[in-house]
Amino acid sequence: MCGIVGYIGPQEATPIVLDGLRKLEYRGYDSAGIATLNQGKINISRAEGKLINLEKKLHEKPLTGQTGIGHTRWATHGRPSEVNAHPHNAGGFVVVHNGIIENYLDLKNQLREQGHNFISETDTEIIAHLVEQHFRDCGDFEAAVRNALSDVRGAYAVAILSDKEPGKLIAAKQGSPLVVGQGQGEYFVASDIPAMLSHTREMIFLEDGELVVFTAERMDITTLDGTPVEKAPKTITWSPVMAEKDGYRHFMLKEIYEQPRAIADTIAGRIREDHGEVFLEGLNLDDATLKGLERIYIVACGTSWHAALVGKFMIEKHARIPVEVDIASEFRYRDPLVNERTLTILISQSGETADTLAALREAHGKAGKVLAICNVVESSIARESDGVIYTHAGPEIGVASTKAFTTQLIALYLFTLHIGRVRGLLDQEACRQMLGELISLPRKVEQCLELDEAIEKASHGLMHVQDFLYLGRGNQYPIALEGALKLKEISYIHAEGYPAGEMKHGPIALIDEQLPVVVIAPHNETFEKVAANMEEVQARGGRVVAITDQAETGLADKAETVLVVPQTIDDLMPVLTTIPLQLLSYHIAVLKGTDVDQPRNLAKSVTVE
Ligand code: AGP
Repeated sequence: MCGIVGYIGPQEATPIVLDGLRKLEYRGYDSAGIATLNQGKINISRAEGKLINLEKKLHEKPLTGQTGIGHTRWATHGRPSEVNAHPHNAGGFVVVHNGIIENYLDLKNQLREQGHNFISETDTEIIAHLVEQHFRDCGDFEAAVRNALSDVRGAYAVAILSDKEPGKLIAAKQGSPLVVGQGQGEYFVASDIPAMLSHTREMIFLEDGELVVFTAERMDITTLDGTPVEKAPKTITWSPVMAEKDGYRHFMLKEIYEQPRAIADTIAGRIREDHGEVFLEGLNLDDATLKGLERIYIVACGTSWHAALVGKFMIEKHARIPVEVDIASEFRYRDPLVNERTLTILISQSGETADTLAALREAHGKAGKVLAICNVVESSIARESDGVIYTHAGPEIGVASTKAFTTQLIALYLFTLHIGRVRGLLDQEACRQMLGELISLPRKVEQCLELDEAIEKASHGLMHVQDFLYLGRGNQYPIALEGALKLKEISYIHAEGYPAGEMKHGPIALIDEQLPVVVIAPHNETFEKVAANMEEVQARGGRVVAITDQAETGLADKAETVLVVPQTIDDLMPVLTTIPLQLLSYHIAVLKGTDVDQPRNLAKSVTVE
């Protein structure tokens, strides 16, 4: 949550920082601010609301200077307002911060006793005052920052400027992401890669406890206690265009349409169909370890948790290992039965979700093996895990996750094939056939996208309702949950996902002529039962939207809308049934006029508990 950006170099800082903030707005968007240093003087501009408000302000009153920091906020301490917007300034020490300072109340009281006055309700302002206080004692900017950061407990990624030593920009990280971009005679620092992609692809990923001092000429990375750290930049393969809307009205729509490409990229280079083999380059788990596993946990939040639920079906079916799926925020509080014969798979698009990271540490702490499925390269979860399978979805900017989800399903499928082969439960021929289906999937996703127009039409009749019910069975139950989550997130319509067989045990009481019920009914072993559920809904006056995979199923009499996706094997069908649900939520949200890419109260990556 929150995005920070910093720049030092020969160019004007404001346009670069603003451009970076635009790319990070998905991380928070309730207020924004920027500070520059010009001829030794600090200038600050802040505005409540989206970045556009800050841009308007800067248009009227530009900030000049070749060193700058900026922030886009997702409020934790203190409501969204200009006064709580970053940067915060205390005596010429200006700070932008992502994270939460846990001991901020104690520190605030101490600082008050030392004569400091606070203007905002934020925890961040404490950091500025702490640096000021330490500077009074030691007279050195860098030492003051190190001392201040040693006083704070909690999570932070910070960028700090001072008019006392105007040629410097200092940044540091503990628990919140921070990446350095190395340009030609200039440096960038930001919470995430897309903020810097239009300037450089050479990135250095900072670890917790590291601090960087930038001047226009050089950069020095050390630990907080001053030990030098050598780090070579990594070249990022994402292109700047991948982080742009590219003619689409919203990032979400662009990302929905990117799925055939994202899926193909996630498969590319990892399979040999003729040999029925899967190669997972970063897996880092040898065959003996995979054979010796007694249990797998899959742990994640939100949409990634829905992918985990689908993964359970695949892995249990083809590798015959018990799989438990946990919500990351619950995992560490229930003393899970992790040991050295346990594999914990963490799924996270961002690789920075605080609860998922904490679950990873819980599993590691109990000597379990840990595998990450992440989209963001070199993210904290990817780096701390024993192995990683990257989803090659490219940057996902829309807050509602789409292409990250379907590529997570692909990563789980690849892992399933691999472990199924290693454990001798899938033979070469079975694996070959399953890979054949996988290869044809991007084309089938394209066919699902052709439903767009029909879904847009159907959305007109569905946009005014208060509630939705989503039903699915087996591996389509998680897809019902995912469809409901997508709708809630971006259209603000209440929606619930239910296992179809549970309808009679309660939710059927909700059904009346106002309630649309989205039923996911591909032709598998439970098709007849799910079709019967549709009749039950219809008999009570409910409105059915059916997602199925064969045109001639007799569903036309049971549903007001029938959306037909192509056929595939049961393991991969969740990828296809997801697409119409993404489009349905997208069109309803657009018709309702909500902020599709940046829905209220949400942030793309939840880096606080
Ligand atoms: C999905 O649309 C969400 N915005 C959210 O549930 C998300 O999936 C969740 O916060 C997990 O994020 P992660 O995959 O980056 O860990």
